[in-house]
Amino acid sequence: MEKIRGLTPQEIVKELDKYIIGQHDAKRNVAIALRNRWRRMNVKSDIKDDIIPNNILMIGATGVGKTEIARRLAKIADAPFVKVEASKFTEVGYVGRDVESMVRDLVEQSVNMVKTRKKEEVKEKAAATVEEIILDAFIPPMRKSAGFQMPNGDTEEVPSSDVELNERTRNLFREKIKNGELEDRKIEIDIKQSGAPGVGMIGAGMMDEASMMNIQEMINGMMPKKARKRKVTVSEARKILLEEEASKLIDMDEVKEEAIRKAENAGIVFIDEIDKIASGGGRKGGSGPDVSREGVQRDLLPIVEGSTVNTKHGVIKTDHVLFIAAGAFHISKPSDLIPELQGRFPIRVELNSLNKSDFIRILTEPKNALTKQYEALFTTEGITVTFDEEAIDEIAQTAFDVNAEIENIGARRLQTVMSKLLNEFLFDVPDKIKPPAEIVVTRDMVKQKLSGLIKNRDLSEYIL
Ligand SMILES: Nc1ncnc2c1ncn2[C@@H]1O[C@H](COP(=O)(O)OP(=O)(O)OP(=O)(O)O)[C@@H](O)[C@H]1O
Ligand SMILES: [Mg+2]
Repeated sequence: MEKIRGLTPQEIVKELDKYIIGQHDAKRNVAIALRNRWRRMNVKSDIKDDIIPNNILMIGATGVGKTEIARRLAKIADAPFVKVEASKFTEVGYVGRDVESMVRDLVEQSVNMVKTRKKEEVKEKAAATVEEIILDAFIPPMRKSAGFQMPNGDTEEVPSSDVELNERTRNLFREKIKNGELEDRKIEIDIKQSGAPGVGMIGAGMMDEASMMNIQEMINGMMPKKARKRKVTVSEARKILLEEEASKLIDMDEVKEEAIRKAENAGIVFIDEIDKIASGGGRKGGSGPDVSREGVQRDLLPIVEGSTVNTKHGVIKTDHVLFIAAGAFHISKPSDLIPELQGRFPIRVELNSLNKSDFIRILTEPKNALTKQYEALFTTEGITVTFDEEAIDEIAQTAFDVNAEIENIGARRLQTVMSKLLNEFLFDVPDKIKPPAEIVVTRDMVKQKLSGLIKNRDLSEYIL
């Protein structure tokens, strides 16, 4: 929670603005939700536990930024984040099963985050150990062995010059390793393998995933860890050993505990396509798919309402996990969700459809804007590509037209249009178009490359 401490709602929106164009209402509300978690953490009295998160329901057509907002939010908050498609739980074989898996995934994600951070903390310490191991592989240490020591404590007979020589050589090599002079030399190291990767799952399907995983872990724990000798280069060895030594230095129990706490208090679960599990078009109480949809909603309910879920890392309470649901709600409406679930998503935000001027901004403004992505790709070939203002306008117009005529897939249309537009260049560089060269994309060029497609509806259905 430390990282969002400094971020006020306005600052959160400002961060989101770097990647997402428009959609102010949605940004505003997710910013409030995020700040509220920090506020809750700082509540002193008992009421703290009663404050529930402001779960959000995002309503908007496909490709307008719903997922993107949630994903960026998680990044900003440095929060464990998982995205699930609600509709997957209605699929054959999933029905009535394991909606809890989303919480388990969240914990898994959290464990990875905490582990990575802790490993970073012990990196220096681990690196020192690793250096010694590598050094030992080159010049094994020679120690004044106790066997030589006389009962009277006399060590005269030990050829101490050998020990000294050994120590000097080691110092020499230590320097060389430090300076990276031996990176490509091969050495032999022991690599520990966790045993029995392929032990079959016993009675899969007879019990829930959590206990199954526990058993698997137990089996792995019982198997002796096999050490295998491998010849690798110093630089490879460093990578492998660093991972191993860092793992040794961190306390997994501590990691798990912290990860559970982090997931409980900061976790964000994004449930996409929630409209697909609403009983569409008011056909309530029917049979067939609607029954399973409602079943999924009922399965979701306890998780969203707050319950405890068993995971292989421990028990997690979902009371304060932030849930963000999203859907297009073209056929069904939010009111088609079962009332209990509606109540658990009190904040509704609508995302606007994107128009041409949004497209222009999306093409150029975000930190990871498409034009910037392609510029970066061409730069690696020594080619500069620039888009003039009119070209951008034309691209946006084309995307908008195709969206209007064929199917509205939102900003995703820009990706297909851009890739079609630049396809030839991407193929011709660097064979036909040799670096250094400059490509200036103009309105005419866009028209020439795309106009044929737009006029021919059948063609654009497939290509754009
Ligand atoms: N408002 C926006 N600003 C910048 N980029 C956007 C915006 N809307 C969409 N995009 C881009 O379009 C792509 C698709 O957006 P996103 O995944 O958020 O769609 P979505 O709303 O979740 O759609 P779906 O309902 O299909 O899941 C992303 O790559 C994203 O970068
Ligand atoms: Mg999405």
